[in-house]
Amino acid sequence: MNVVDAIKARFSVRAYLDKPVEKELVYKILDIARFSPSGHNMQPWEVAVVMGKKKEELSQKLVEAVKNKAERKYDYFYGPKELPDIINRRRKQCNTLVFEHKNIDPKKDREKLMEHILENFRFFGAPVVLIIMREKELGEPSFIDLGLFGQSIMLTAVEFGLATCPQTSIAAYPYIIREVLGIPENKMIVYSIVLGYPDKDAHINKLRMPRDEVEVFTTFYE
Ligand SMILES: Cc1cc2nc3c(=O)[nH]c(=O)nc-3n(C[C@H](O)[C@H](O)[C@H](O)COP(=O)(O)O)c2cc1C
Repeated sequence: MNVVDAIKARFSVRAYLDKPVEKELVYKILDIARFSPSGHNMQPWEVAVVMGKKKEELSQKLVEAVKNKAERKYDYFYGPKELPDIINRRRKQCNTLVFEHKNIDPKKDREKLMEHILENFRFFGAPVVLIIMREKELGEPSFIDLGLFGQSIMLTAVEFGLATCPQTSIAAYPYIIREVLGIPENKMIVYSIVLGYPDKDAHINKLRMPRDEVEVFTTFYE
């Protein structure tokens, strides 16, 4: 598959087949993604590959935390409550499209809403979760490196017939991830990428998010 096709084929898959991904294949994907660019070639990414019983344990602890309204405590500044209008519009549109697609009225269907939220913490049934981390003592440009690395993982996954969904939702509970996996305090839990074989028939996987045209976000200076 060429790069353009892979970029256009990738989307956030939120339902997976009950089919394991071989450890060797996960390794192969990371072995390709490591060629991502990074500032000063610092390669600040660190990955915890979580699968099998450990994944179940992590999911269980995270689900409990959400149900018990445990403290949400990102290792980094997650973002302001008030967003610029254009960003707020896109954010709201994303939520609305998901809720409409799943036929959830978030104001009325509290139970359905909770189930929807919990799906993130069940990793949408994916067999593999990649926790993407970095040292806490790094500058903000390192976030760029981790994002580029993630896109490389997600595009490489497409090449191998796999699907992904990036998640910052689980990074709200870094203290749980640290405890379950024994990750030291000096590591910042930035985001995760779930990985698996897509359930192509699942209703949620028929949803595609729109994008603004180039003109909306680009200015040419000549
Ligand atoms: C940094 C980042 C964090 C995200 N966190 C979540 C998440 O926690 N849960 C989720 O379902 N999707 C998450 N997404 C997926 C976005 O909702 C998705 O990329 C966006 O709506 C565009 O849709 P697409 O990926 O299907 O093209 C995240 C994406 C990124 C890049």
